[in-house]
Amino acid sequence: MTDLGGRHVWIDGRIEPAHVPHISAFDRGFQLGDGVFETLRARGGRPTELPEHLARLRRSATGLDIDLGPSLERDIEAGIAALLAAEGLAGPTGDASVRITASRGAFAGRGLLPPEQPRPTVVIQAWPVPPTPRDHLERGLHLAVSAVRRDPASPLAALKTTSRADYVYARLEARRAGADDALFLTTDGRLSEATSANIFLVRGQELATPALDCAILPGTTRSWILGWAGAAGLAPVESSLAASDLAAADEAFLCSSVAGILPVTRFEGAPIGAGVPGPWTLRARAAREAFIAAPAG
Ligand SMILES: Cc1ncc(COP(=O)(O)O)c(C=O)c1O
Repeated sequence: MTDLGGRHVWIDGRIEPAHVPHISAFDRGFQLGDGVFETLRARGGRPTELPEHLARLRRSATGLDIDLGPSLERDIEAGIAALLAAEGLAGPTGDASVRITASRGAFAGRGLLPPEQPRPTVVIQAWPVPPTPRDHLERGLHLAVSAVRRDPASPLAALKTTSRADYVYARLEARRAGADDALFLTTDGRLSEATSANIFLVRGQELATPALDCAILPGTTRSWILGWAGAAGLAPVESSLAASDLAAADEAFLCSSVAGILPVTRFEGAPIGAGVPGPWTLRARAAREAFIAAPAG
């Protein structure tokens, strides 16, 4: 483990030093991936779109029948503030990625079925956001298709659960292929999303993204971009897209809360559009970063 000296975590209402053990070996999050999580950005101590992230955390937990209790939202808001302060990330120049993880909790017994009265474990962690690698902005990301397919009929498709083995597998696949990230297709052959981001294509004056029935996580950044597009002069379209649509797009980009908007310039080894980050992508990125930096963000 890297040096955690001086770092902290928030766990079940307490700020603890990061280097001491926190979680029971019996925790179902560790044993089974029986949990949910959120990742968000906090600039100047202000968590961006916190209500949206908390609502998605609740939806994911409800989808797994995990009751996170009535005070979760209040506790997490206070917990983020306390943790950012402890980490020295609450000041005007603070720029943090914040992860909230909630598992069903520890259970001494065995088996898949949860105990009658689980006591969820809730953890908040924070990291300083490193500068975006210059390569990612100037050269853009290269994507390769994953062998893992996502199933739009799965009741888990839109939940942000801690069962992330598929995503880890896909990231390793991408690295072996010399790509920066993997792109999932659905079981019926449509574009879905990347391993931790949604995807958008610019096609003329249209800004297209896979619809919610394409086994995607309904991204908070994706929603923001769909709202931004109209005012910026692009027609937002949510639809079924094919890999060939990505290959033929003028521009493409990925989006997520922490990394923001990143250009995609190659897909399966071939350039997208001019093969360089496109003007709409850079405009969208600048608008999103300004939104995150604004006091109302
Ligand atoms: C699989 C996946 N899709 C999309 C996203 C983007 O979601 P958001 O914009 O809410 O960060 C994420 C974020 O972590 C993700 O893990």
